[in-house]
Amino acid sequence: MTSSARFWDKVARRYAARPVGDPDAYHATLERAKAHLQAGQKVLEVGCGTGTTALILAPATGHLTATDGSGEMIAIAREKLSAGDPGNVVFEQAELTQADLPAGSFDAVLAFNLLHLVEDLPAALQVLRGRLVPGGLLITKTVCLGGWRALLLWPLIAAMRLFGKAPHVTFLRPAELDRMVAETGFEIIETGFYPVRSASRFIVARRA
Ligand SMILES: C[S@@+](CC[C@H](N)C(=O)[O-])C[C@H]1O[C@@H](n2cnc3c(N)ncnc32)[C@H](O)[C@@H]1O
Repeated sequence: MTSSARFWDKVARRYAARPVGDPDAYHATLERAKAHLQAGQKVLEVGCGTGTTALILAPATGHLTATDGSGEMIAIAREKLSAGDPGNVVFEQAELTQADLPAGSFDAVLAFNLLHLVEDLPAALQVLRGRLVPGGLLITKTVCLGGWRALLLWPLIAAMRLFGKAPHVTFLRPAELDRMVAETGFEIIETGFYPVRSASRFIVARRA
């Protein structure tokens, strides 16, 4: 098991119990994501956590495979299915880079609040690109804590990591993330911040 999966297993129940930080920004993100999804499409979500977003977005897709590296997160997501199953979503424990997910077969890949937690982001972006059909979409929202925010937060997160209280965090600037996405072979077709004056960079990018 990876150290990331161990961390998220430990905090999963607490994470599930936390209310959404900014419901308006969350709904705005979902609306923008839905605007790019179509009925009949095969969609993959990576780092789906407790499955809330997957369960909301599944009706806007043909089929949604929602994955997460943490078995505990996936267990909670499956519990939610018994409260309301849209009938076209499956939850699977899988590392982002796990090879046995089908390559080149998804119309869209979703990654919300995940990419800043990945240690080798260029490699992860290549894997996500490889999961898409040509012209398929990467729809992602990423916390970008680079620049002045890093000056404040890096020491805090480094100290928390020493005690196992924080996961790995890559301190990205929004422009740096955009560049990495473009350099992976995507054409960026939409960007935004939700909430507007936040560090949460929303990107929709088409596999070139
Ligand atoms: C901050 S939570 C976000 C969960 C959900 N997407 C959301 O927006 O609420 C990050 C999630 O990504 C998962 N994760 C982190 N690194 C991962 C990796 N390399 N492969 C798969 N999942 C990963 C964690 O287990 C956790 O559930």
